[in-house]
Amino acid sequence: MYSPTSQPWPADETLGRNLEARGVSRRDFLEFCGSLCTVLGLGSSFVPRVAQALQAVRRPSVIWLQLQECTGCVESVIRTSEPTIGNLVLDLVSLDYQHTLMAAAGHQAEAALQTAMKDNAGKYLLIVTGSVPLADDGIYLTIGGRTAKSILEEAARGAAAVIAVGACAHWGSVQAARPNPTGAVGVSDVIKDKPVVNIAGCPPISDVVTATVVHFLTFGRMPATDSEGRPLFAYGARIHDQCSRRANFDAGQFVTTFDDEAARKGWCLYHVGCKGPATFSPCPIFQWNGGTSWPIGAGHPCLGCTEPHFWDTMTPFYDRLPDVGGFGVERTADIIGAALAVGATAGVAAHALATGIHQARLRRLPVVEITPIKPDVPTTPGTGKD
Ligand code: SF4
Ligand code: SF4
Ligand code: F3S
Repeated sequence: MYSPTSQPWPADETLGRNLEARGVSRRDFLEFCGSLCTVLGLGSSFVPRVAQALQAVRRPSVIWLQLQECTGCVESVIRTSEPTIGNLVLDLVSLDYQHTLMAAAGHQAEAALQTAMKDNAGKYLLIVTGSVPLADDGIYLTIGGRTAKSILEEAARGAAAVIAVGACAHWGSVQAARPNPTGAVGVSDVIKDKPVVNIAGCPPISDVVTATVVHFLTFGRMPATDSEGRPLFAYGARIHDQCSRRANFDAGQFVTTFDDEAARKGWCLYHVGCKGPATFSPCPIFQWNGGTSWPIGAGHPCLGCTEPHFWDTMTPFYDRLPDVGGFGVERTADIIGAALAVGATAGVAAHALATGIHQARLRRLPVVEITPIKPDVPTTPGTGKD
């Protein structure tokens, strides 16, 4: 493909014109669009439409807020494989504010944020990583003397769309784990007047962020989501149903300690804590670091990091999946999410309420039904006994 830094993309030029000027062939461009359609779960018949829409895109403005978080999500996103976030940041979008990646600092950086919001009012894409601390009037995170809540509310007001990247921005992640001393919540708990798409995971797979941004640029709207606001093209299927160790699960072949013969043979990790049966994520398909590997592929159980409140509901991580509310392992994300919420504490119940509000806010986005997979298998897999 093309080099992201070889030629700047002027704001008044379309992407198609810019790629042409770089010498990108029509074949390469269509290949690029084809790979995006594959990631987005669109048929090949969509390729011409995606190509036509992308060609007409003018350089969009992106404002990226980093709130209460560990920078792991930024690290993950800048490691996108193909198309790279380098392509996105430097070519497809104009990243007008990102305080870790930008050269400016202090007052200059904050001035850049204000300018970007003013110049692109109503048109910019807002990406947020990190949670919002609400306890004690939000004093646990201030930038330029302002609380995270105040900065987020202002930035969201003028945004065309909001993407919350990572578990922290989705629901608060580790900061929101009991007892949640800073009162950390996700973006959608603060922004209630427009849809927030959640790219779940701690951190999420960068290609999902890229594909979501491109979906917005191509179709002018966010992709269809589940009740958690997660794009269905990525989070519509459980890890368990895509796992390379599923045949071992079905055959009752389990690892019982990390150094046993079953572990060496690559058998199922359910008995050493795998939360794959209750986790919706594209990890087995997209994988990490350009498709190199993923946790279960490397012999580690899934911790359920794309599910809300996994620090409370999925722990202890190396114990078997708790038998929550009697759900079978063959259920949809929404049913499992509801069961987990019922089985958890008051904090999680509060989140369930927030999820209801979130669902109402997302009603403008098309929601695709997930068909339950049948038949159910016994609660204790492979044995038929508890
Ligand atoms: Fe770090 Fe995880 Fe939060 Fe991302 S979601 S910023 S990796 S703690
Ligand atoms: Fe894979 Fe985990 Fe399911 Fe076993 S329990 S098949 S390791 S997802
Ligand atoms: Fe997270 Fe499980 Fe994937 S822990 S990275 S959802 S395999």
